[in-house]
Order: sequence, then C-alpha cells, then structure tokens
Amino acid sequence: MKKKIILTGDRPTGRLHVGHYVGSLKERVRLQNSGEFDEIYIMIADAQALTDNAEHPEKVRQNIIQVALDYLACGLDPEKVHIFIQSMVPELTELTFYYMNLVTVSRVQRNPTVKAEIQQRNFEASIPVGFFCYPISQASDITAFKATVVPVGEDQMPMLEQCREIVDKFNSVYGETLIKPEIMLPSNKACLRLPGIDGKAKMSKSLGNCIYLSDTPEDIKKKVMSMYTDPTHIKVSDPGHVEGNAVFTYLDAFCKDEYFAEFLPEYANLDELKAHYERGGLGDVKIKKFLLNVLLAELGPIRERRQMWEQRIPDVLNILKEGTKVAQAKAAETLHDVRSAMKINYFDGDLIL
Ligand code: TRP
Repeated sequence: MKKKIILTGDRPTGRLHVGHYVGSLKERVRLQNSGEFDEIYIMIADAQALTDNAEHPEKVRQNIIQVALDYLACGLDPEKVHIFIQSMVPELTELTFYYMNLVTVSRVQRNPTVKAEIQQRNFEASIPVGFFCYPISQASDITAFKATVVPVGEDQMPMLEQCREIVDKFNSVYGETLIKPEIMLPSNKACLRLPGIDGKAKMSKSLGNCIYLSDTPEDIKKKVMSMYTDPTHIKVSDPGHVEGNAVFTYLDAFCKDEYFAEFLPEYANLDELKAHYERGGLGDVKIKKFLLNVLLAELGPIRERRQMWEQRIPDVLNILKEGTKVAQAKAAETLHDVRSAMKINYFDGDLIL
C-alpha cells in the first residue's frame, strides 16, 4: 500500500502566532497523534525565507530556533515527526534546478500568491530571481519526501496547484516517479484566515496585529482588550454584528462549549452568546473578558511547554540535527529515483554515455 506521508513547514521570519496555530499547527499535532501517517516531516524553510531576506540572514538564523520552540510548544513530538532545516538538505536545491526546466516564467507570473507577495514587498521590477522561483522550490520540498498530504493555510493553495502540475509534467516526460500531493485545509472556516486583533484580513508581523504563542498573559490581555469589534455597537443596548467582528471570529476558532460552563455559565454555547449580542444588551468588555479566558486556557499549556524547552536549547538543536539527518536521507533516495528517471545517473553501474 502507498505510504501516507506529510510534509509541511514555515518560513522562519518571526515567532509563530495564533493564526499559525489554528490555521495549521493544531492540525499537525492532531495528525501526528492520529497514528494514520507513516512519516511526518516538518520543515523550517530557511532557504525560502532567504529569498526575500538575502540581506538579513541573521534574522532568518535567529528565528530558526524560535520556530522550533513554537513547534515543540504546540505539542509536535520529535518521537513522531522529523523537524528539519531546509538549507541543510541540499538535495532540495538540486531538485529545484531540474524542476525549473519544467515551468515557464509566465506560469509563475500567474501564481496568485507570488503576485500578491510581489505587490506586498514592492518588488515590481526588482524581484530577486530566487524569490520568483520559490514556488518551484516549494514543489521540491513536497515531492522530495514523496508527501501525499500537505496541511497548510489557504494562502498556500496556489503553491500546491503549481506543485501538482510539476509532478504531472515530470511524470509525463520522464516516467512515473513522483507522488502527487493533496492539500489539507482546516475544516473550521474561522481557522482558515484568522484576522489580526485590528480586524484586518490577515495577522502579520509587519502590521503589528498578532497574538504570539510566546506572548505573556499580560500581553494577551492588553491585545484582547484593545481588539476590533463592531464600530456600530456603541451603547451596550445597541444591537451588534458578529460577522466581521474579530472577537467573535476568534471565539469561532477557539471556543469550546465547556468554556461557557467554566467562564460564562449564563450561556450554554456560542450561538446563545451571538444571539444576545445581535439583539443588543451585551457589552464588548464582557465578550472580550470571555475571549481572554478562552485564550489563556488554550495558550497556557503551550506557553508553559515553550518555557520548558527554552531551558533546553541544546536538546532543541539536537532534535533539529536528528530530524535533518532523517530528512536528508529520504530526500537523497528521491533524488536517486529522479536521476534514474532522467537518465542522468551517469556513474550508476556501467558508464553509459
Ligand atoms: N511557503 C510556506 C510559508 O510561507 C513555507 C513552505 C516552504 C512550505 N516549503 C513548503 C509549506 C512546503 C508547505 C510545504 O509558510
């Protein structure tokens, strides 16, 4: 039977936030514990981070350990998953070089994620070639591990499409070699794209609207109490809107019924709370305090585990080293298959030219 393999990862350009958590990390931990997968690879995509941070390698370097700490804090278990550093697996770069010949410039230009990022970074005419090619490199990351499933956020959908096209192209030119991956998105709509605390569409470090997994309870309190709600809900008695109200979107993403029994027993569940808000007579401070309690309950164990791992940095480095060793061996196997399929394995067996 075909093995079930997961590959996913993150760019180490900052600490991970609650958007990463509900959008992907929580799902990874669930998949890890489901026992349904034969191999799970979690990649810290430092080489990809360098494609738009070439002049700040120290920023990428420092964040590798931060991302590893966030992973371990969320409950990723190095006994069950291989956490590794992308640039330490040079096979990925080699594979990218071969895939580049199977993709046209205009196809990458049509990739909506690349388009959006070029705009965001004001690259326009000065796009680094490496940055432009990162969707191709991402296809290498996925296929080098023969991944069948890639759990990521919605924004990565165009990357997966591009990857699947590369697989088809490679297999049709060189013969069946590569595995075509499936994307896996969170099923809860609120988790697909958690807004920032300012209500803006995306949580992002540059907008300063994130709640980080490493935030202290005081940080979280400050952020939650300043959160964007409903600008038309001025007096407590006014009817309020829950759509587009960041507090309710967060509750959709994080709340479980048992939190009502614990923190807000006047309501049985989120539907009742929403109905009251929409009717009027429910103040923002009350819903914010409830959300704060929910977030403290959800993030507390994560923060504690993070603090524990922060005391054990040499062990964290060892986990990365061991994970990278396994990942490198796996990628080398695939590269062997790729070279054979392309008949560029010149020194295998008799030298045939
Ligand atoms: N592009 C992803 C991000 O920005 C990181 C990444 C690199 C990745 N290679 C990958 C994700 C392969 C999934 C699969 O976070």
